[in-house]
Amino acid sequence: MPSRILRKRKLIPGMTSELVIEAPHIAAKALPGNFVILRVWEDGERIPLTIADADKETGTITLVYLVMGKTTAHLETLDAGDDILDLCGPLGRATEIHKVDGPVICVGGGTGIAAMHHIAKGHHMAGNLVVTIIGARCEDLLLFRDELCSFCPEVLIATNDGSCGRQGLVTDLLVEMLENDKTVAEVVAVGPVPMMRAVAEATRPFGVKTTVSLNSIMVDGIGMCGACRVSVGGETRFACVDGPEFDGHAVDFGELGARLTAFKDQERLSYEEFKSHGCNCSK
Ligand SMILES: Cc1cc2nc3c(=O)[nH]c(=O)nc-3n(C[C@H](O)[C@H](O)[C@H](O)COP(=O)(O)OP(=O)(O)OC[C@H]3O[C@@H](n4cnc5c(N)ncnc54)[C@H](O)[C@@H]3O)c2cc1C
Ligand code: FES
Repeated sequence: MPSRILRKRKLIPGMTSELVIEAPHIAAKALPGNFVILRVWEDGERIPLTIADADKETGTITLVYLVMGKTTAHLETLDAGDDILDLCGPLGRATEIHKVDGPVICVGGGTGIAAMHHIAKGHHMAGNLVVTIIGARCEDLLLFRDELCSFCPEVLIATNDGSCGRQGLVTDLLVEMLENDKTVAEVVAVGPVPMMRAVAEATRPFGVKTTVSLNSIMVDGIGMCGACRVSVGGETRFACVDGPEFDGHAVDFGELGARLTAFKDQERLSYEEFKSHGCNCSK
């Protein structure tokens, strides 16, 4: 069923946008950690995007995407008033959120900050003390800072070039926190695979529960096709139905990274063709 885009905000022009979409059936059930699978045009591929926020009252969900290739570039051509051809969700297992004694540290990198925002908000609503650590190459690429500051008492920032917050990586700030506070209950990380892997390695010596949200390639999103296969603790799991969140200390990140780049030549060709000729479809 087509879903109407109500608002569009260009967070990083040409790279990252936020869409607020009319989807009351999804908004009514969406929980932190859930995602949708959408198709922009009839012959288009299905891509998963995390639900960055959901509002049951207004019947809307918020998606934030980075333009990576053909489908996200095509999505970027849509504007408020346009329809997304179909939107399926909420999918995936929701984040396990319980009241815990110590702080929950939520770490986000790049576009993952938007997805992490929904999880951090869920922990805050459950009464947990949430500390967020966000990172990007430079200040202009930091997302959702104001949104996080609106409910989170501590938002720590790391940028590679030092243009905002600490110069360095999110893991530098994380390790300092873990060294100074032995009561941390859980660490949640959402972002690029190397970042989530680094977070899991940083927390391992401290023995702190670490949850990561895996962005494996997905096709059907309902456990039938096997595309999203990941290895966790030596067992095969399907990220779409068993995840996307897993124990970061048990994930085989090497395999995940290799599977994510398996189609890079086809993806590059497809994107170049889109940039030259469009997708030969009407919006
Ligand atoms: C559960 C989940 C939630 C996600 N949430 C977000 C989000 O909130 N915002 C965001 O910007 N991105 C998110 N992604 C990644 C997003 O799905 C890909 O960036 C998108 O599919 C790229 O498609 P493309 O055609 O533009 O680029 P392509 O050129 O086709 O691919 C670029 C790269 O994106 C990845 N990718 C491609 N197709 C898929 C696919 N069908 N499923 C998953 N990854 C794919 C691969 O790593 C690929 O190398 C999420 C992925 C998963 C699995
Ligand atoms: S996307 Fe098909 S099994 Fe998960």
